[in-house]
Amino acid sequence: MSLIGKHILSSDLFDREELERLFELADTLTPVARGRQITRVLEGAVMASLFFEASTRTRLSCESAFLRLGGGVTSTTGSGIMSISKGESLADTSRVVSGYCDLVVMRHPEVDAVHEFAAATNVPVINGGNGAGEHPTQALLDMFALHREFARTDRTMDGRRIALVGDLRHGRTVHSLMKLISRYEDMTIVCVAPESLGMPEELVELAESRGHRVERSDRPETGLKDADLVYTTRLQTERFADRPVPYSDAFRIDKALVSRVCREDAVVMHPLPRDGRPGSNDLATDLNDDPRLAIFRQTDAGIPMRMALFASVLGVADAIPGSLRPATWYRPDYTGPDDAPFYKNVAF
Ligand code: ASP
Ligand code: CP
Repeated sequence: MSLIGKHILSSDLFDREELERLFELADTLTPVARGRQITRVLEGAVMASLFFEASTRTRLSCESAFLRLGGGVTSTTGSGIMSISKGESLADTSRVVSGYCDLVVMRHPEVDAVHEFAAATNVPVINGGNGAGEHPTQALLDMFALHREFARTDRTMDGRRIALVGDLRHGRTVHSLMKLISRYEDMTIVCVAPESLGMPEELVELAESRGHRVERSDRPETGLKDADLVYTTRLQTERFADRPVPYSDAFRIDKALVSRVCREDAVVMHPLPRDGRPGSNDLATDLNDDPRLAIFRQTDAGIPMRMALFASVLGVADAIPGSLRPATWYRPDYTGPDDAPFYKNVAF
């Protein structure tokens, strides 16, 4: 399947073959993401990033990815400074903005907004998160990071036990991730959530219809048992009309819990941000120096994967290998002080 010119609104679009092609391209682009090589395949192209909701990773990594491909970026955050605040419709905004650029990345608190926006333009629109809907580029980078983690610890992607933990009802990253995990074979997916925050039924049914076992649990102590991957999430407080009841401390994923119930080589991921405020009971920081915690390798994976996606959507993927040349500016050997052991087999 060709991604050229496509809107990327859902992770539905990606089957296993497409995922593996993107992993390969993201591997090729890793030295560019790390500032070791240069490519200019998108020289002259412009991306518009429109974020109507808070973001650190998605906005900055999409922009960085486009810039590293040689393109330029124009961006705006929040509707307060846009003419939407004067009553302009999303459809008009879309038609106008897409006359200024070659690709749009958009985040919006309402599920339907990105669809409305994409319907009004032929320029590819990438969903950077639509309310409690989806976050397809996050799921792509999660799968890419996971593929590396399992390769590093000699595991295949198939036949794994995956625990998705937390606010599975409002968490858009886990919605997109369910669709991609279920492209693999023979998975056991354990949805571990407080009763009112369970995984939407249609996503459970989708995974089951593809031959996987889906279990539900409201107790991390049992739900995480023997997990290969623990993918935990923040309570999506901004999606509740009233102040939400915080996670009980049973949902605080910490070193003691992971050591007690998961496999020794479990991978612990989180899309981030983790909520560090007192009483939030999000992912604990006592795993920070634990090799099982992959959250920063996960964020690092975002740049090469988003580069691979942009290059594919704009039809320049094939030109990448021949376009690479060395970069000459200073870069540390590894981005984080503890990174070295994890990047042994990753081409810089
Ligand atoms: N950053 C992710 C998102 O925007 C996850 C989160 O905010 O909890 O969906
Ligand atoms: N993971 C993620 O989407 O982070 P931001 O909300 O900071 O973009």
